[in-house]
Amino acid sequence: MPDLTRNAGVGNAAASPTRSLAIDNIGSLITSDPELGRGPLGIVEHACVVIVDGVVEHVGPAGAQADDRIDAAGACVLPGFVDSHTHLVFAGDRAEEFTARMAGEPYDGGGIRVTTEATRSTSTAALDQLVRQRLAEAHRAGTTTIEIKSGYGLNITDEVRSVQIARAHTTESTFLGAHLLPAEFEGRADDYIHLVCNEMLAATAPHSKWVDAFCETGAFDVDQSRAVLDAGRAAGLGLRLHGNQLGHGPGVQLAVECGCASVDHCTYLTDDDIAALAGSDTVATFLPAADFSTRQPYADARRVIDAGATIALASNCNPGSSYTTSISFCIAIAVREMGLTIDEAVQAVTLGGAAALQRTDIGRLTPGATGHAVILDAPSHHHLAYRPGVPLIRQTIGPLATVGSPTHSTPARSGR
Ligand code: NIG
Repeated sequence: MPDLTRNAGVGNAAASPTRSLAIDNIGSLITSDPELGRGPLGIVEHACVVIVDGVVEHVGPAGAQADDRIDAAGACVLPGFVDSHTHLVFAGDRAEEFTARMAGEPYDGGGIRVTTEATRSTSTAALDQLVRQRLAEAHRAGTTTIEIKSGYGLNITDEVRSVQIARAHTTESTFLGAHLLPAEFEGRADDYIHLVCNEMLAATAPHSKWVDAFCETGAFDVDQSRAVLDAGRAAGLGLRLHGNQLGHGPGVQLAVECGCASVDHCTYLTDDDIAALAGSDTVATFLPAADFSTRQPYADARRVIDAGATIALASNCNPGSSYTTSISFCIAIAVREMGLTIDEAVQAVTLGGAAALQRTDIGRLTPGATGHAVILDAPSHHHLAYRPGVPLIRQTIGPLATVGSPTHSTPARSGR
């Protein structure tokens, strides 16, 4: 069967003739558009989605005609998950560090250096293969759009190849040279930031859409983080920031001041932080699997939503603080521990993730949007929280597309 679900205008768009695909006999369709259906998620019952050349052409009652048909058999269908925060380019794992944490050791981010050592000593081909495996895992778990950061190279050569690998697999590639001070710069953080803002940025920017920094005690302070964001903006990159993960701090205020698309973690928020987020376009991205794996408290997302800010949930897949690609897991924690309704959690991994990436073409199943969809082994999206730990993704339709390299090929669909 031809690839009916690729991203229009990206990758192999000229490879096959236009054909239409109907996802038919949908019991409960989440469109993300309240004008198309019930409630804030725009739910349509007994529905069909028609996708032409990777783009949603039509949403309506079951039974629409198309060249090809997938029978959802009464299941729930929702937009593919948008995972707006991952660190997939790494080698090795840190299971021992995790085990020690579960026995009471605190998390302080210092293990980033362990992963940097492993990553630097791994070949580019092997790193790329690891990223492909993680992407396949994420796709099986329902993710169709993903952001990928560098940040385990921490020198020019290894940061460049990290963003090159990221960019080969997603348009949402992020330069995170300011992840942690590498050992060889110990005691010379300002020198390292100078390198990041100049030669390293110049070498990585052509392969990056975004720049990011870890603004936290033990990583980089507010002035160093601001310097990275300013330099990234001057190089034409969009801005994102890690902030307020391990304690209260200036990250959220800095992100809002600089106009970041998103500030990520947000575990420790003051009333002023929440007010700043609510008065801005900066998305508060919560990473509940990191709080789970580091034994941090869970963020009070309820207060942030009630204040009127836009929120997202993301996996933060990385070998230290959050070694999971499962967005379903994040939904379950957010509902159980962070005060979100199930509808809000589903919105946060679809439209919320799209907002964090400043995209309007994903996170929805509406005419004109990309045809990225997930078919659940369940009649409603409530089961994503109601049945935690159960692999409910029957089929993922649409990319994680490979972009930028004709030699890479990620399957367009996966199912079990
Ligand atoms: O988002 N906080 C900084 N970076 C990652 C953790 C990286 C690591 O521990 O390897 C995060 O949690």
